[in-house]
Amino acid sequence: MKQYDHASLKKYNTFGIECQCKNLLIAENQQDIDTLFQERVFEQPFLIIGEGSNILFTNDFDGNVIKLATKGLEIINEDEDYVYVRAAGGENWSDFVNFTIDNLLYGAENLIGIPGLVGSCPVQNIGAYGTEAKDIIYQVEGHYLPNGEPFILYNEECHFAYRDSIFKNALKEKCLITDVVFRLAKRETYRLSYQQLADKLQEEGKTPNLKLVAETVLEIRNSKLPDIKVVGCAGSFFKNPVVSLEKFNELSSKFDDLVHHSVPEGIKLAAGQLIDKCGWKDIRRGDVSVYPKQALVIVNWGNAKGKEVVDYYQEIIQSVQEKFGVTIEPEVRIIK
Ligand code: EPU
Repeated sequence: MKQYDHASLKKYNTFGIECQCKNLLIAENQQDIDTLFQERVFEQPFLIIGEGSNILFTNDFDGNVIKLATKGLEIINEDEDYVYVRAAGGENWSDFVNFTIDNLLYGAENLIGIPGLVGSCPVQNIGAYGTEAKDIIYQVEGHYLPNGEPFILYNEECHFAYRDSIFKNALKEKCLITDVVFRLAKRETYRLSYQQLADKLQEEGKTPNLKLVAETVLEIRNSKLPDIKVVGCAGSFFKNPVVSLEKFNELSSKFDDLVHHSVPEGIKLAAGQLIDKCGWKDIRRGDVSVYPKQALVIVNWGNAKGKEVVDYYQEIIQSVQEKFGVTIEPEVRIIK
């Protein structure tokens, strides 16, 4: 297993924050994973990272950082309607989506372009353009920590919700996800509930196919979201807040253009719009600002420190609270 003492984590977090850990361990195969348990790595302070695309480091990390780099994409089963694909946790998410497209399997295409690894997708139930990972996850496999006992959790057992799962709650820091089995449809079906996606396909007058849907999603993503290879960020920094119908009615009497939709818990608002309306697109502090095309994303333009991003996001939360009386919270994992 590759091991580096006092490693810099700058290139292991897409925010591009400079910090160090005591020890960086890169697990590339099952043997490396077994070694982690034999060496009792999880009995000391640890942090498991994927591509580091949803974390913000605020300090050096005084412990072991474990990066999963296992590879493998395999069709393991099929029935009349579905094909089952096992993907290793260390596979890049979009490589997995492209594998499904190449094999004419339906269900993952709207999720193309989301940064990160397969092993991270169940943790926050990644989602975009009318689809969530939970719609295609069949089972999640891994080891309980710290002892290494294997587990398999079926979809219903993962308690998936909006950017949430058992892995952020009861099993937080209690497991290492090694593989995810996905169930993908054999029959042609598209999810076009996201209006801009449906409109764009219709505008062009083309009959949808898997490649076209994926390309259109990428076009929409690229028009709003920064390329993490070029600009430091971690995607949406905040979750979209849900308010009561009563609160929504109160807000819409003052602001008549609030983007919203009904969810079982109430009315979901667009945090990006609320932040935008507070004027944050014009506020840059050092190397930190919101992304000019999407205020939901906080960007490190160069050498921002974790602490500076923390100060900036807390100011945003406060201003949204003051203007709208709505509490927004980070979606990104803040490492203290
Ligand atoms: N809006 C503004 N100003 C802004 C940003 C957005 O007015 O600065 C408005 C937009 O015009 C739009 C609405 O807010 O009417 C919602 O924007 P958008 O459709 O881009 O979606 P979002 O709610 O901002 C969510 C996800 C994204 C995902 C998109 C598309 C969350 C926290 N974010 O963003 O996920 O790509 O929907 O489905 O749910 C991520 O999690 O990292 C991520 C990028």
